Amino acid sequence: MPVITTIDDLKRIYKRRAPKMFYDYAETGSWTEQTFRENTSDFDQIRLRQRVAVDMTNRTTKTQMIGQDVSMPVALAPVGLTGMQCADGEIKAARAAEKFGVPFTLSTLSICSIEDVAENTTKPFWFQVYTLKDDDFMRRLFDRAREAGCSAIVITLDLQLQGQRHKDLKNGLSAPPKLTLSSIANLATKWSWGLQMLQTKRRSFGNVIGHAKGVSDPSSLSSWTAEAFDQALDWKRVAELMKMWGGKVILKGIMDVEDAKLAAKLGADAIIVSNHGGRQLDGALSSIRMLPAILDAVGDKVEVHLDSGIRSGQDVLKAMAMGAKGTYIGRAFVYGLGAMGEKGVTTALEVIHKELDTTMALCGKRDIHDVDRNILLVPKGFEGDWV
Ligand code: GLV
Repeated sequence: MPVITTIDDLKRIYKRRAPKMFYDYAETGSWTEQTFRENTSDFDQIRLRQRVAVDMTNRTTKTQMIGQDVSMPVALAPVGLTGMQCADGEIKAARAAEKFGVPFTLSTLSICSIEDVAENTTKPFWFQVYTLKDDDFMRRLFDRAREAGCSAIVITLDLQLQGQRHKDLKNGLSAPPKLTLSSIANLATKWSWGLQMLQTKRRSFGNVIGHAKGVSDPSSLSSWTAEAFDQALDWKRVAELMKMWGGKVILKGIMDVEDAKLAAKLGADAIIVSNHGGRQLDGALSSIRMLPAILDAVGDKVEVHLDSGIRSGQDVLKAMAMGAKGTYIGRAFVYGLGAMGEKGVTTALEVIHKELDTTMALCGKRDIHDVDRNILLVPKGFEGDWV
């Protein structure tokens, strides 16, 4: 086994092991992928201030996200089709997260169902909600999440319809994969993935198959979103859903100061500054560039989290130093999962934790709560002078 020291090491192994259609699904943005690229390259523009001769003993990255203790401010983001990257992927990722002491968020479009994950874990997880037109389905979804002991829901606000990802259309993405000449040729080279997949019964959208009505092809993500998702979703409906749930709520996909104010006014427990990993509105700013303006507007009213572009502990530190109260990794944990299952997710978390802890120390800080803008060197005009 190669020595793994970075998230990129995991990505290389993942690329070899996972079927092309699922690798491409994860490693894509929409349209030209400009936002997808800038989510990571904008983090690189921010530099760190090295401080020396500062006592760096007794360090801690422990904090809280929505009042829940976390060993570091990094949750696992909801990622659709995670159980196609590796058999029983959501269960494996949830187990790794719970052992590491960070939150796991299950996607509505997961392969393992809410019940599957609850039965195979011991701590409450978070559940991400897409709003479907079928109101009965939504009510039952909340009941199921309650029954499973989920401690928060994450409502995704930026995907009433899907931004086009060219590779998914070209690959004929589906769960389970449809057998065509080219998919068979590719799957034949992914024997360890295939062997594990043959041993599980979880190979389609576990939360929706048999629970939701009115979709012509239940294996296709694009038909699900096109036919079943509620394009009429508005703030009034968001308020209704929050009431229907009655527990902690995180609103995901906020990229605008006005939307941040509306979300804060609704009484969300947290918002996530997120452009869906560059998979929705191509041409949107990176989330790290949007963060300062949103913090200025609502940072004292609601907990502000960030996702999109985080691939290292340095990125986590930069977001926290800017003022975020938590971050999420999506692709970074999927690389680990696709490379080595549960162990790979643990490795991804360990890599990020080590980078975060060491970098924090070299910036002269011992406690994640003491990290602030002073440790950063942000280029003038970083946020952009947009009209
Ligand atoms: C689903 O959330 C996706 O981005 O594919």
